[in-house]
Amino acid sequence: MAFPTTRMRRLRRTEALRNLVRETRLTPNDFIYPLFVVPGEGVRKEVGSMPGVFNISVDQAVKEAAEAKSLGVPAVILFGLPEKKDEVATGAWAEDGIVQRATRAIKREVKHMIVVGDVCLCEYMSHGHCGIVQKSGSPATRSVGAMAVKEAELPAAMDKMAASAAAEYEIVNDATLEILAKTAVSQARAGMDIIAPSDMMDGRVAAIRKGLDANGFENTPILSYAAKFASAFYGPFREAADSAPAFGDRRSYQMDGANLREAMREIELDLEEGADMIMVKPALAYLDVIAEARRRFDVPLAAYQVSGEYAMIQAAARNNWIDGKRIMMETLLAIKRAGANLILTYFAKDAARVLG
Ligand code: PBG
Repeated sequence: MAFPTTRMRRLRRTEALRNLVRETRLTPNDFIYPLFVVPGEGVRKEVGSMPGVFNISVDQAVKEAAEAKSLGVPAVILFGLPEKKDEVATGAWAEDGIVQRATRAIKREVKHMIVVGDVCLCEYMSHGHCGIVQKSGSPATRSVGAMAVKEAELPAAMDKMAASAAAEYEIVNDATLEILAKTAVSQARAGMDIIAPSDMMDGRVAAIRKGLDANGFENTPILSYAAKFASAFYGPFREAADSAPAFGDRRSYQMDGANLREAMREIELDLEEGADMIMVKPALAYLDVIAEARRRFDVPLAAYQVSGEYAMIQAAARNNWIDGKRIMMETLLAIKRAGANLILTYFAKDAARVLG
């Protein structure tokens, strides 16, 4: 029955009515709050491109986690900036690594806080790639910094550079798996509640599951960054985590943003390998991927509202070009409406405050 019998506006008249028929609701329980942990004590250094996000020492991470918990946020995810980087990512799997220390401290001090460990090697590798790097050519065109280029020529030079690096270097898959599994086990040993591999190597979920099981951690769940796209939205994160690749890019392991079917295949494979939960990343530019994943797979689905998404909203809000608070809530709601059960977001505390 059409107008005038049907009037859609009847149920929009008051906030009470709108609230009654609201289909999607955010709660602080939906959020996972990312923390960037650095060595030292009393350190709280704001990330330039991410206002409100800090590089923090372990003691401050405990405080952040406690605050998030008090606002109703059930989980944090930890990223680490180690004292030293090398070519085998020692800082990622060291027993007293920065993430391991932070995990122990948070688990000890903040009751019932779920600690999720991002398992990836880029923050711990001197070259900033997510796996072991092997040379496959001559080292002649090693660094873009060494190339003298005029500003106007830079994009072309970067492309050329990326192409030549790709030709000369390879991110070795199978050798990397061992380090990833070792990292996961050392995190689990430190008390990590959930292991979240984000490197996009093939077979990492199976390798990590095997490593965890062999060491008595058969009850530690894996949240796989299953469909992670090679995205320009990670820009600010790489400043926060000091993990920009020194040469080339991540397109030989992260997914091509054009591919939805491939994303479904990635998810399917990770589930076959033993993933308990899956993730799509970034979020806002990939809502269709979230929706399709929700439709096809009956497992908990997370989405990561990444650093660039956060930075854009903060930057525009600071210019008074948008209402930052409302856009924060609108984007988070969109991600949930698309089908995400969990949202990793730098807005976790702010949004939880709005939700009261
Ligand atoms: C590690 C990792 C990245 C992010 C999460 N884990 C960076 C990358 O892949 O380059 C990005 C998160 C964000 O942008 O907020 N590999």
